[in-house]
Amino acid sequence: MQIKNKIVLLTGGANGIGFAYARELLRNGAGRIAILDVKDSSGKEAASKLNKEFGQGHVIFIFCDVSKPQELEAGFAETIKQFGGLDILINNAGIMDDVRWELMIATNVMPYHYEKTGVRILTLCPGLTDTESLRKSQERMLDIIDVEELVGDSSNLTSQKVDSVAHGLVYMIRSAQNSTVWVAENGEPVYQIMIPDRLLTKVSA
Ligand SMILES: NC(=O)c1ccc[n+]([C@@H]2O[C@H](COP(=O)([O-])OP(=O)(O)OC[C@H]3O[C@@H](n4cnc5c(N)ncnc54)[C@H](O)[C@@H]3O)[C@@H](O)[C@H]2O)c1
Repeated sequence: MQIKNKIVLLTGGANGIGFAYARELLRNGAGRIAILDVKDSSGKEAASKLNKEFGQGHVIFIFCDVSKPQELEAGFAETIKQFGGLDILINNAGIMDDVRWELMIATNVMPYHYEKTGVRILTLCPGLTDTESLRKSQERMLDIIDVEELVGDSSNLTSQKVDSVAHGLVYMIRSAQNSTVWVAENGEPVYQIMIPDRLLTKVSA
């Protein structure tokens, strides 16, 4: 799919990786972008920054908590009303917060109800990426999780820049096949992975 003139709805675009997605899509000719986010002031600031850089009217901000189905639906309706259609949905909004696990599930998983439309669905899994969310995530993890045990010696982990993930997204929109899963890590080009068939991993009856 070409990106030029496409209409995009991007959740969680006020900060971090989402903001880098918006900028990279506009650099590649995206027509209009609706940023849906729960952070009102940084959402407005993000839209105004991008409109200054790429020209007025390219980006709108819509306040929306994606964990609330009615707000999400209203955000879709508003985007379509203002832009006259929708070509690309980027479901990026998310939190890393074990302490508020119910909110984490509601935010990260529930909005994924975009099936039965014939629309290509792609998954991008960023590796460690330097954003505010990542910096705060360790203090929001449950005590029972030993970070060192989970990820090994964390001094070896490098966190990549948001721009690197955004380049990967543009590559995927242009060339990835439907239902494929990709990883962007260590600041390197994205690569595709295969998720093993659950039944093939069965050990015993
Ligand atoms: N940073 C990393 O290392 C990393 C790694 C893997 C996956 N991710 C995922 O990438 C996505 C972006 O993460 P980030 O690091 O840029 O985080 P971030 O906190 O910098 O940005 C997340 C954005 O989502 C918004 N958001 C949160 N809850 C929302 C809600 N209920 N409704 C609408 N907007 C909401 C926030 O206001 C924020 O603008 C998240 O889904 C995160 O889980 C991040």
